[in-house]
Amino acid sequence: MKKRGSRLLLFVMVCAAMVISYSFMKTGESATIPAKQAAADNGAAESGGEVTGDSDSGTKDEPGGEAAENPAKNAGKDNSQTAKPDEETGAGQAAQTEDGIAVIAQPADIAVLLNKQNKLPEDYNPTDLVYPDVRFIFSEKVEKRKMRQEAAAAVEQMFKAAEDDGILLAGVSAYRSHSTQKALFDRYTKRDGLVKAKTYSAVPGTSEHETGLAIDVSGSEGKCAAADCFADTKEALWLEEHAHEYGFIIRYLKGKEEITGYQYEPWHLRYVGKDLAAELAESGETLEEYFDAVPVAK
Ligand code: DAL
Ligand code: ZN
Repeated sequence: MKKRGSRLLLFVMVCAAMVISYSFMKTGESATIPAKQAAADNGAAESGGEVTGDSDSGTKDEPGGEAAENPAKNAGKDNSQTAKPDEETGAGQAAQTEDGIAVIAQPADIAVLLNKQNKLPEDYNPTDLVYPDVRFIFSEKVEKRKMRQEAAAAVEQMFKAAEDDGILLAGVSAYRSHSTQKALFDRYTKRDGLVKAKTYSAVPGTSEHETGLAIDVSGSEGKCAAADCFADTKEALWLEEHAHEYGFIIRYLKGKEEITGYQYEPWHLRYVGKDLAAELAESGETLEEYFDAVPVAK
């Protein structure tokens, strides 16, 4: 009985040892499995981390860079110059390219998109230039007072409406011939260098002033005429609020410098017609964005 008892005890001890050792194995495994899972998770987390890391830098560099370079593309828009159908606006954009700058096919179109990538044909001269009956900051009856007929009539209405609101506007510079724009641009280039000049002055053939549809406007005193300090003047605020009612847009908007290719010019008004001006005032888009055009590099 005693012998059987000690055998039983031995059996129980062996069993207990097996259970304990199995239990250790389990513990070890259970430490291993999460480790594997952790590794797997880690893999995901790591790759997630990498993605996060990349996307962090990506967010800063790649898409941001692209946005800065090409915001319309980022917005999922077609950037082709002619994306907006002519029948929608009658804008009739560039047909052929020359030195990387497209030559505009219908330069007389009121909604024409003229910028660093689209220029006027060399022989283009507007045929219906007139002198608008509005105040200018100079008294001579010279070329830079002129505008195309439709734009001239609109500017007269706009100046009159401003005056009714107690705002006295004055023209600074409207139409410029190709040769005048060339002389101006050459002067600025000599003074500030080509790169800087191109941020505020258009290469001859690409200035809206050459279309007879643009006018730089100041207050009647001529203070801050075509200068940064014009921003936030009562005249600038009035124009920002009302210019579209007369068919004009502030062409070079603040915050859109990478798209238009020019610094903010609150004084540079471009006639595009009332419907388009109202649409752009409402949307806050530039002409480039409206036409889904390729944003303009500096
Ligand atoms: N200042 C504008 C960009 C021009 O020269 O036409
Ligand atoms: Zn201008």
